[in-house]
Amino acid sequence: MINVKAQAYVFDAYGTLLDVHAAIARHRAEAGPDAERFSEIWRIKQLEYTWTLTLAGAYLDFWSLTERALDYAFARIPSVSQALRPKLLEAYFKLDAFPDAAETLAALKSRGLRLAILSNGSPRMLAAATQESKLAASLDAVLSVDAVRVYKPRPEVYALVTDRFAIPAQDVVFVSSNRWDVMGAASFGFSTVWVNRGRMPDEYPDAQPSRTITVLAELPALGL
Ligand code: LAC
Repeated sequence: MINVKAQAYVFDAYGTLLDVHAAIARHRAEAGPDAERFSEIWRIKQLEYTWTLTLAGAYLDFWSLTERALDYAFARIPSVSQALRPKLLEAYFKLDAFPDAAETLAALKSRGLRLAILSNGSPRMLAAATQESKLAASLDAVLSVDAVRVYKPRPEVYALVTDRFAIPAQDVVFVSSNRWDVMGAASFGFSTVWVNRGRMPDEYPDAQPSRTITVLAELPALGL
């Protein structure tokens, strides 16, 4: 679905505006030769825990799951020193934004659009990261799954946006680099943009993105 009258642009945070591999990148030399694999396992486990807990009817906040996933990554990749644990957590709490994130948000904001984050992240994590990366100034709302205690892609999460802005789903453009998150948002009725930085193959053919881009900076020119 392509909507030419979007009222709000809503962004996923981790992986979309914030670079989930930036924490390990800050400590790349100390982490050693398995740093990339370590970071992938950390991210994959963090997401897996969101899905498994939600399916089981349980909830723990995203910071707790981030810590547990990190401990799993240390157990799987012993070449990465556990001495890095506090440094990696500190870096993840104030995660770096992608270089084009702040300017893209500012360009959309200057058109009078309402902007928000909708994220699995806990409110404290999101507040720290958006302030650190200078995204906060462009955002009208930072919405966390913590309000409903289930994780994406449950529809209750996407409904946080339509409830907050009191607008129908079709007036929202939802932007995510996570293809499974685009699936959830498209199924809810949002227009969607998939930020496919890694040029990955497409998935979820029944829930296609409205548009696909490879960097956030392409977003303002889409005319959605
Ligand atoms: C988020 C996850 C998908 O920010 O990383 O919601």
